Amino acid sequence: MLDVGCGAGQTTRLAARAAGNGSVLGLDLSGPMLDRARTLAAGEGLHRITFEQVDAQVHPLPTAGFDVAISRFGIMFFDDPAAAFGNIGRALRPGGRIAFVSMSDPARTEWVQAFAAVRAALPLPPQADGTPAGRGMFSLSDPAEIRRILGAAAFTDVRIEPAEAPGRFGRDVQDAAEHLLASGPLRHLTGLLDPAATDGRAGADLVRDALTTALAPYERPTGVELRTAAWVVTATRP
Ligand SMILES: C[S@@+](CC[C@H](N)C(=O)[O-])C[C@H]1O[C@@H](n2cnc3c(N)ncnc32)[C@H](O)[C@@H]1O
Repeated sequence: MLDVGCGAGQTTRLAARAAGNGSVLGLDLSGPMLDRARTLAAGEGLHRITFEQVDAQVHPLPTAGFDVAISRFGIMFFDDPAAAFGNIGRALRPGGRIAFVSMSDPARTEWVQAFAAVRAALPLPPQADGTPAGRGMFSLSDPAEIRRILGAAAFTDVRIEPAEAPGRFGRDVQDAAEHLLASGPLRHLTGLLDPAATDGRAGADLVRDALTTALAPYERPTGVELRTAAWVVTATRP
């Protein structure tokens, strides 16, 4: 099995357990995420699992070397999605399958709405996003686009099903705000703040306050829970 954009390898480890005597290769761009993935896999005694720090779009994979490719939100960031899915498709044996989840409707994804509220509350320079059009996490949110890209990569029997689930972001609002403040997207946002526009306050304090306000509606007795809406996509390599 192949896990594309495996991050810290949670799905890679699940795949290794499901694979029995089979083996799993996890691919990711991030060295620190893969260090964590290797540590966790070794800690769970999973030895038929390897990780490589590569760009899945262009990395030469063994032709027809895998039965199944999976990805949990790791296939939405390619410069050239058609090339990337072509590369993954060539790595699957005839009859091999791909199954992945990609972001669907931002309006139904509560953490996207909360992040938008945080951005709106901050004195950010105009157009301070930095994500080129079409390359963000919603690049595969349109089912017609998913079908077009998978079709161009010669996949067939494409099925696209909606799914929604809550994610737990912290024990309470303060815990969730600290967790998010340390994440890549929020550190990026903090770095965009111009000290001249923050009335002498530290950027991190402004972002923490904005996060606390934006997350408050999502606090439950079980923790801070925000829903994600996704597509579950499956297809076959003929
Ligand atoms: C949203 S995270 C998902 C991580 C993991 N699949 C999970 O569910 O926890 C997206 C991951 O895709 C990786 N990624 C993005 N573009 C990639 C590429 N071209 N090749 C390999 N990995 C990539 C990122 O480094 C990141 O770890």
